Amino acid sequence: MKSFIADLAARGELAVVDRPVDPQHQLAAITKAVQTAGEQAVLFRNVGGSELPVISNLYGSHDRLKRLIGAGDKSFCERWIELTDRCLASRDEDVLEPASAEIEAEFVSGSLSDLPAITYHARDAGPYFTSAIYMAREPDSGVPNLSFHRSMQVSDSELRVRLGSTHDLARYQAKAESRGEALEAALLLSCGPEIFLSACASLPYDASELTMAALIAGRKLPMRRCKTIDLEVPAAVDIVVEGRFLPNVKRPEGPFGEFMGNYVEVGDNHVFEVTHVNYRRDAVLHGLLCGSPEDLRPLEAVTAARVYRHAASQVPGVIDVCCRPNVMISIIKIKKAYEGHGKHAILAALGSYLDYNKVVIVVDEDVDIYNLDDVMWAYLTRGRADTRAMILNDIPGFYRDPHKDHWGRLCIDATLPWGREAEFARKTVPGEKEINLADWLV
Ligand SMILES: Cc1cc2nc3c(=O)[nH]c(=O)nc-3n(C[C@H](O)[C@H](O)[C@H](O)COP(=O)(O)O)c2cc1C
Repeated sequence: MKSFIADLAARGELAVVDRPVDPQHQLAAITKAVQTAGEQAVLFRNVGGSELPVISNLYGSHDRLKRLIGAGDKSFCERWIELTDRCLASRDEDVLEPASAEIEAEFVSGSLSDLPAITYHARDAGPYFTSAIYMAREPDSGVPNLSFHRSMQVSDSELRVRLGSTHDLARYQAKAESRGEALEAALLLSCGPEIFLSACASLPYDASELTMAALIAGRKLPMRRCKTIDLEVPAAVDIVVEGRFLPNVKRPEGPFGEFMGNYVEVGDNHVFEVTHVNYRRDAVLHGLLCGSPEDLRPLEAVTAARVYRHAASQVPGVIDVCCRPNVMISIIKIKKAYEGHGKHAILAALGSYLDYNKVVIVVDEDVDIYNLDDVMWAYLTRGRADTRAMILNDIPGFYRDPHKDHWGRLCIDATLPWGREAEFARKTVPGEKEINLADWLV
């Protein structure tokens, strides 16, 4: 985390707040303002109630995400799929190594109350860990998994956690519970980008997200043994909370301001019993504002890669996919090669992810899929409103949806009419790209 922050500072991508900041709402309010102003990360050096600083907005930039996975000239989707394929062909034994005694000496034991207790939204039940990555092993195979599950801070010994039913961690916990056992896990609260990005991935059930992290980092991952549970965690994690999910115990969690922009009300959710806390002396807590660009951009990017992989395997000419401004949408860029090509791409995208894809839009190769204005321009100017939009009724969507608010699909083929490319070619002004305004304005 420290070298990541230093790199952001060197690139001019870090804002710093030295004034004392109240972790209740004020820290989140300033983070929001920084996000409104641009894509900088923000470091709070003086957070009330704790010695530890807080960093936020680390991942709210698509360009930064591309840089962190080494995409170079490739799209995020292409590079992510390349890494995923290599991950599926690699083994943990080849990419993990024990951490040295010097690394171990960097850590001190402490308690949850040493850490900043950040309350983000007006109606949140209290402080939450939002960059909360849980690491656990599949109870039978031992395959390690990393996944995000926001955690409500109840006391030094208890967190309450919502485990989304489709996530691997929920399956591990259910398996342990069916045997009457607690599931041991480590909560990773401040880590290098390779761990964060790997935790965003939804790999096949038996694939290791530690291998993925090592491939993103481009080096072996040193691992440390936990003190109170049978688990090793990456040494690149600066704050580690050891504990276990209790079997057959659920307690009220929430309300909490979620990634869709509203509150999830109180629900009975899992209980994580804390057994040990340790952190680097110079640790910085990662506080992530849920539903903000920092939460959405990474989730969108890995979702887009999943849609891209599936669609490109079914249909030729798929160039890129974007799921912005929310994972409920997939915007697909194609090199149109035949009449109906856009509709084929829609069909393929729909089958790629049954939870999401509430809206699918396909555009031509000259449209900027990261700019919704450009996407809508293509729909509005390149053909009919009616026959290019299709509604599919009564199809279930996002799994947590008791009122069916996310049922149904809207699909739009916003590509231009086949055979009339010249008519719809974008107009240009000769020389526009070469103009440097500084040469012209007084
Ligand atoms: C930044 C970020 C935060 C997330 N927060 C949560 C969360 O609080 N609760 C949750 O159930 N899912 C959350 N998710 C979604 C999934 O947990 C996440 O994509 C997960 O890593 C899926 O892993 P799995 O398929 O290996 O289980 C979050 C995803 C991202 C990218």
